[in-house]
Amino acid sequence: MKFTHVLTQALGLLSLGGAVEGFSRSRNDACGPLKPYRSLPTSKSRDKTCHVRSHGNGTDDSSYILSALNQCNHGGKVVFDADKEYIIGTALNLTFLQNIDLEILGKILFTNDTDYWQANAFKQGFQNATTFFQLGGEDVNMYGGGTLDGNGQVWYDLYAEDDLILRPVLIGVIGLKGGTIGPLKLRYSPQYYHFVANSSDVLFDGIDISGYSKSDNEAKNTDGWDTYRSTNIVIQNSVINNGDDCVSFKPNSTEILVQNLHCNGSHGISVGSLGQYEGEVDIVENVYVYNISMFNASDMARIKVWPGGPSALEPDLQGGGGSGSVKNVTYDTAFIDNVEWAIEITQCYGQDNITLCNENPSNLTISDIYIKNFRGTTSTTEDPFVGTIVCSSPDTCSNINVSNINVTSPIGTNEFVCDNVDETLLKVNCTATSQ
Ligand SMILES: *[C@@H]1O[C@H](CO)[C@@H](O)[C@H](O)[C@H]1NC(C)=O
Ligand SMILES: *[C@@H]1O[C@H](CO)[C@@H](O)[C@H](O)[C@H]1NC(C)=O
Ligand SMILES: *[C@@H]1O[C@H](CO)[C@@H](O)[C@H](O)[C@H]1NC(C)=O
Ligand SMILES: *[C@@H]1O[C@H](CO)[C@@H](O)[C@H](O)[C@H]1NC(C)=O
Ligand SMILES: *[C@@H]1O[C@H](CO)[C@@H](O)[C@H](O)[C@H]1NC(C)=O
Ligand SMILES: *[C@@H]1O[C@H](CO)[C@@H](O)[C@H](O)[C@H]1NC(C)=O
Ligand SMILES: *[C@@H]1O[C@H](CO)[C@@H](O)[C@H](O)[C@H]1NC(C)=O
Ligand SMILES: *[C@@H]1O[C@H](CO)[C@@H](O)[C@H](O)[C@H]1NC(C)=O
Ligand SMILES: *[C@@H]1O[C@H](CO)[C@@H](O)[C@H](O)[C@H]1NC(C)=O
Ligand SMILES: *[C@@H]1O[C@H](CO)[C@@H](O)[C@H](O)[C@H]1NC(C)=O
Ligand SMILES: *[C@@H]1O[C@H](CO)[C@@H](O)[C@H](O)[C@H]1NC(C)=O
Ligand SMILES: *[C@@H]1O[C@H](CO)[C@@H](O)[C@H](O)[C@H]1NC(C)=O
Repeated sequence: MKFTHVLTQALGLLSLGGAVEGFSRSRNDACGPLKPYRSLPTSKSRDKTCHVRSHGNGTDDSSYILSALNQCNHGGKVVFDADKEYIIGTALNLTFLQNIDLEILGKILFTNDTDYWQANAFKQGFQNATTFFQLGGEDVNMYGGGTLDGNGQVWYDLYAEDDLILRPVLIGVIGLKGGTIGPLKLRYSPQYYHFVANSSDVLFDGIDISGYSKSDNEAKNTDGWDTYRSTNIVIQNSVINNGDDCVSFKPNSTEILVQNLHCNGSHGISVGSLGQYEGEVDIVENVYVYNISMFNASDMARIKVWPGGPSALEPDLQGGGGSGSVKNVTYDTAFIDNVEWAIEITQCYGQDNITLCNENPSNLTISDIYIKNFRGTTSTTEDPFVGTIVCSSPDTCSNINVSNINVTSPIGTNEFVCDNVDETLLKVNCTATSQ
């Protein structure tokens, strides 16, 4: 009797010392096969648990969510139960979080009130991006394998009528220092799936993305991840079924590791677009992209930079003239199938007239690029070409290396378009220039 009592006490102490069941694995151990640029901070242990209530009748559950987050902030775990659907109809500013886990077992659905969200979603000040909520603070983990559903169909249909509407991003990771996101299922985002800004030391692991439009209006700009003003980010072990960039490194993304992704239907893994805004300095430096399978896409490796002069791609997408640099970017090991370009590097983004592009060379340089170990087959779209590497002047690109590219088009060719680039470093068949 006495013995049992002592044992129970000992176990009680043990469980205080350890974490509440859930996220305890070190973020560094979870990273693989390649390790992050800098080691990721380990989570503090969690010692309390809060379950989120839900109305269960379609009304907004935001106040329940906020009260659970406040109650379990600073060392607790908030559980979204497996058998519940939670409705979010209020823009939640979750940048106050500290040492907290969000275990999402059930489903979270954002309301379809497009008027409310256009007025209240968080404006992030980059490419008019807004987010349903913003997750920030320090040492925050969101996992559990449950679902976040952006109710995108109303947005896809509204955007077809008016392409200036502001469609929220499903997950805003804004100003987060230290965190793990995933495993999670993400469905039907109105726009990008993740916008990661002002953040550092964040691991995305085991994200499953899907959500196609059920009407004739395509789900557009559904990038998997856009990183912005962020450093030491890892994105890995994820499956992305979408219709725009699988991952995109926007201005001031540094020390980013992306590995083990299955991307389907995307625009590839993209640096940029950069140099869109005159007077701004955009930096993308130290990026490693490893072991990607890319299916049914426009690109695998892509670097898109606007030229020096003003250019227009679409009514809501124009720019050019910005300065900065893309430096030390590696794409290592990729399998492609039905992809238009295995490699697409351009400093003429938004400007089809190459003469005009070369008259106003980009103010944003591209250097120390390593692209290697690609295999597979392109689509028929660009036959006989499988890649294109076009700089706007010989002075704006340097040390671009391409090697071991075993990629052919369906008709068996492997030609590249090459312009204003040192062809001795390109171990590919440069058979054409873009003029
Ligand atoms: C939903 O449930 C809450 C109580 O949990 C109740 O106050 C509210 O009136 C209900 N709303 C609807 C639309 O049924
Ligand atoms: C979000 O909350 C933070 C405090 O955590 C505050 O500083 C910031 O102004 C809030 N942002 C918005 C848009 O409400
Ligand atoms: C929006 O969602 C509600 C249920 O919450 C549904 O009754 C309504 O039909 C939806 N509206 C549209 C346009 O899909
Ligand atoms: C990031 O931080 C900068 C500087 O504090 C701030 O101006 C900006 O609004 C923040 N958010 C984003 C998305 O850049
Ligand atoms: C932001 O949206 C406004 C209208 O909603 C538009 O005039 C402006 O060009 C957009 N800015 C960007 C950078 O797309
Ligand atoms: C790509 O997505 C389509 C649905 O749009 C699906 O039919 C196909 O199986 C997927 N392919 C891969 C390789 O994931
Ligand atoms: C990016 O970094 C550069 C260099 O530090 C800085 O000049 C620029 O303002 C930053 N841009 C953004 C969008 O934060
Ligand atoms: C370039 O990136 C590699 C990893 O891809 C890193 O090891 C190296 O330190 C970086 N170089 C510089 C100069 O930062
Ligand atoms: C491209 O720009 C040049 C220089 O401005 C111009 O002479 C030429 O007509 C343009 N070509 C086309 C196809 O518009
Ligand atoms: C951009 O480049 C042009 C030359 O192509 C140069 O005249 C101009 O000063 C540059 N602007 C900036 C802001 O660097
Ligand atoms: C290139 O890939 C094909 C299959 O896609 C394979 O048969 C061939 O051996 C590979 N060549 C080299 C040099 O790796
Ligand atoms: C270039 O194409 C020729 C056939 O046209 C082929 O024999 C050669 O291997 C190719 N070179 C590279 C680097 O792919």
